[in-house]
Amino acid sequence: MKMEISRFSIFLLSFSALLFFASATTAPENFLQCLLRHSPPSYPIAPAIFTSNNASYSSVLETYIRNLRFNTSTTPKPFLILTALHESHVKVAILCARIHDLQMKIRSGGHDYEGVSYVSDVVPFFVLDMFNLRDISVDVKTETAWVQTGATLGEVYYRIAEKIKFHGFPAGVCPTVGVGGHFGGGGYGNMMRKYGLSVDQIIDAKIVDVYGNLLDRKAMGEDLFWAIIGGGGSSFGVVVAYKIRTVRVPETVTVFRVGRTLEDNDVTEIVDQWQRVAHVIDKDLFIRVTFDVVNGSRSGKKTLRATFIALFLGDSERLLSVMNKSFPKLGLKKSDCLEMSWLQSVLFWTNFPQGTSVDELLSRTPQVLTHLKRKSDYVKTLIPKEKLNQIWKKMIELEKPTMTFNPYGGRMAEIPSNATPFPHRAGNLWKIQYATNWDEQGTQQANHFIDLTRKLYKFMTPFVAKNPRTAFLNYRDLDIGVNHNGKRSYYEGRVFGIKYFEGNFDRLVKIKTKVDPHNFFRNEQSIPRFPYVGR
Ligand SMILES: Cc1cc2nc3c(=O)[nH]c(=O)nc-3n(C[C@H](O)[C@H](O)[C@H](O)COP(=O)(O)OP(=O)(O)OC[C@H]3O[C@@H](n4cnc5c(N)ncnc54)[C@H](O)[C@@H]3O)c2cc1C
Ligand SMILES: *[C@@H]1O[C@H](CO)[C@@H](O)[C@H](O)[C@H]1NC(C)=O
Ligand SMILES: *[C@@H]1O[C@H](CO)[C@@H](O)[C@H](O)[C@H]1NC(C)=O
Ligand SMILES: *[C@@H]1O[C@H](CO)[C@@H](O)[C@H](O)[C@H]1NC(C)=O
Ligand SMILES: *[C@@H]1O[C@H](CO)[C@@H](O)[C@H](O)[C@H]1NC(C)=O
Repeated sequence: MKMEISRFSIFLLSFSALLFFASATTAPENFLQCLLRHSPPSYPIAPAIFTSNNASYSSVLETYIRNLRFNTSTTPKPFLILTALHESHVKVAILCARIHDLQMKIRSGGHDYEGVSYVSDVVPFFVLDMFNLRDISVDVKTETAWVQTGATLGEVYYRIAEKIKFHGFPAGVCPTVGVGGHFGGGGYGNMMRKYGLSVDQIIDAKIVDVYGNLLDRKAMGEDLFWAIIGGGGSSFGVVVAYKIRTVRVPETVTVFRVGRTLEDNDVTEIVDQWQRVAHVIDKDLFIRVTFDVVNGSRSGKKTLRATFIALFLGDSERLLSVMNKSFPKLGLKKSDCLEMSWLQSVLFWTNFPQGTSVDELLSRTPQVLTHLKRKSDYVKTLIPKEKLNQIWKKMIELEKPTMTFNPYGGRMAEIPSNATPFPHRAGNLWKIQYATNWDEQGTQQANHFIDLTRKLYKFMTPFVAKNPRTAFLNYRDLDIGVNHNGKRSYYEGRVFGIKYFEGNFDRLVKIKTKVDPHNFFRNEQSIPRFPYVGR
C-alpha cells in the first residue's frame, strides 16, 4: 500500500499544475480526455469508461438502479460512468472532475432511496461507480476484515462465515445493499440491540480526499474518520474500504414470523405490550413489527395486519421462556419458531423460501425491484392505546403505505450519542419506516403513492420525536430538505442536517469546511460548509 501511495504522489504532481488553469466552462468531452490522459500506466482507465456512445452504457447505469422511480426516460442521466477498477481510478476521477468543475456522484450498491448516488439535479454530472472494488479480506486471527465499499452486505456475511466459524456482522437485512452507502450512513440491522450499528464495529477506513490522497485512519485523523462512520461518506471523499470487527453469533439462532390481523386478534393489546417491552427485552432478541392492510380471511374486508418478525441469538427453548415472561400477548408457540444458522437467518429475514442455499447471499440480483418511497421517524414516548386504534383506522383508509417499527434499546442505548455522527441512541424506543411500493409507471402514479406516504407521515406527527422531528440518514428522504440546486447554502443544509444528526451536525460542518473547503463532494443532502461562501 505504501508503495502505491508514493507512486501516486509523483503521478499527482502533474495535476497540481493543471488545477491552476482550471476552467469552469470546460465541456464533458475534455473530462473524458483528462481521464484518458491520466490513465495510470499499470491500470488502464479506458475499460472503465462508459458514455452514451458505448454499447453497454444503459445496462451499466441500470444494473444498480434499485428504485424504478429513477429508471425513466426523463430521469437526469450521467454523461459518463466510471466503473473504477483500481483505487487510482478514484483519484483520477476526483482530480479531473475538479479541473473541469463537474458534479460527481458516488455509487456503491445503488440502494439510496432517492437515487442520490446516480441522479442529480445539477447537470452535467458523472457517476463514479464502485461495484468493481469489492474485495473482502478476513483476518481470522484478529477477527477483523477489510471490506471494499463496492461489496454487498450478503458478500460480507458470507465471507466472514466462510472464514471464521460462528461469526457475523451487525448490518442491514437486505443482502444486496452496498457497503459504501450503508456503512457511511450508520447501518442498522437485527443484531443492533446486541452489537449496535455497523459503524460501532468499524475500526479503520481508506478514503480518497479532494486532493487525491489515499488516507487511512491514522493519516486522515480522528475527526474525518468520525465523520465517515455515520455522517454519510459522500460529503467528505470517496471511501474505498472500511475495516470492521466481526462479531460472535451462536451456533443456532431462532427466527419467527407471525401475523395478527385486526379481524382475528386484539392487535392493539399485542402492539401495546410490544411497545412497552421490545426496547427493554433481552438484548439477544430483536422483534420488528410491520403493519400493512390486507383482505381479512373471513370477511374479505380490508383489515390491518401486524407481522412480528424476530431474530433471537439463542435456541427456541430460551426464546419461548423470554417471550412467555415478557411478551405473552403475542402467544408465540414452539411451532412458530425456526432454528437455523445465523447465515440462514439472513435469508429468512429477507423472505427467501426455506431451504435456499446460503450461496444466494452472493447474488447481486435484487429479489424485488419496484417504484418506492420511504420516510422515517423516531418514537420516544409510548403511544396511548386509543391512539393506536386511530392509527389502524388511518392505515386502512390509506391502504397502500406500510409502517415498520424497529425496536431500539439494548446496546444502542449504551453508546453515547456523539460517539459517531448517528445520534439516535438512548431515549429512542423505536424507529418507524414508512414504505410504499408500486408497479405502475408514470409521474402521476408516482405522485399519488408518494402523497399517500406523506399523508401517513403527517398523521403520525403527534406520536413521534419533535424539535427536531428526527430521521435516519440511510432512509434518504429529500422531503425533509435539500441543498438548493446542489450549491448548498449552510442554512438549507441545516434543515435536514439537524434531523439526521442532531447535536453532531455542527461538528460535521466543521470537518466538512476543513477537509473540502470548496465543496467538491456535494449532493442534494450533503453536509454544507460554514460560513456559506457561495460557489
Ligand atoms: C431493499 C433495501 C433494504 C434496505 N435495508 C436496510 C437495512 O436493513 N438497514 C439499513 O440501515 N438500511 C437499509 N437500507 C438503506 C441503505 O442502507 C441505504 O440506502 C444505503 O445508503 C445503501 O448503500 P448503497 O451503497 O447500496 O447505496 P448508494 O445508492 O450507492 O449510496 C448511498 C449514498 O452513499 C454515498 N456513497 C456510496 N458509496 C460511497 C463511497 N464509497 N464513498 C462515499 N460515499 C458513498 C452515495 O453517494 C449516496 O449518497 C435498505 C435499502 C434498500 C433499497
Ligand atoms: C467507451 O468509449 C470511449 C471513447 O468514446 C473509450 O475510450 C472507452 O474505452 C469505451 N469504453 C469501453 C468499456 O469500451
Ligand atoms: C429500466 O428502463 C429500461 C429502459 O426503459 C428498460 O429497458 C428496463 O427494463 C427497465 N428496468 C426494469 C427493471 O424495469
Ligand atoms: C382484496 O379485495 C379486493 C376487492 O374487495 C380486490 O380487488 C383485491 O385484489 C384483494 N386484494 C388481495 C391482495 O387479494
Ligand atoms: C409460561 O409461564 C407460566 C407462568 O407464568 C407457566 O404457567 C407456563 O407454563 C409458561 N408457558 C410456557 C410455554 O413456558
